[in-house]
Amino acid sequence: MARISVLNGVNLRSLGERRPEVYGEQTLGDIEQLLRGEFPEVEFEFRHTDHEGEFVGWIREAADSAGLIVNPGAWTHYSYAIHDALEAVSVPKVEVHLSNVHSREEVWRHTSVISPVVDAVVAGMGVHGYRAAAQYILSLGAGER
Ligand code: DQA
Repeated sequence: MARISVLNGVNLRSLGERRPEVYGEQTLGDIEQLLRGEFPEVEFEFRHTDHEGEFVGWIREAADSAGLIVNPGAWTHYSYAIHDALEAVSVPKVEVHLSNVHSREEVWRHTSVISPVVDAVVAGMGVHGYRAAAQYILSLGAGER
């Protein structure tokens, strides 16, 4: 059974309540259920933390998985620690953002320090971004990892 790690970073626990006009009305639990329902053949490690060091540890743990889906929240825009951790892991990696960070007003959101070390970036597709990321990883055929 393929194992995919889905790592959600800072403030994503408040999905559903936090700015639903930007991030949608679905909670992190809804996203987890959607993935588990849609890909029953996949073993998802679906996690959230507000602690950067914990997030970095989970990236390392994903080194032997079929792939990694990361939404680091605001860390995306400035965490060199997460950049370096992702760079050191050679499984397929997809950066996902619910909102289209490039169309948003805050200029700092237009920069991602992690995009250079992932294979693909999905932004602005809401919860479908997670689905697309999982489909992409499975399409690479990592088999039993
Ligand atoms: C986000 C975009 C980030 O800019 C923001 O800080 C988040 C969520 C997204 O999924 O759209 O917390 O990663």
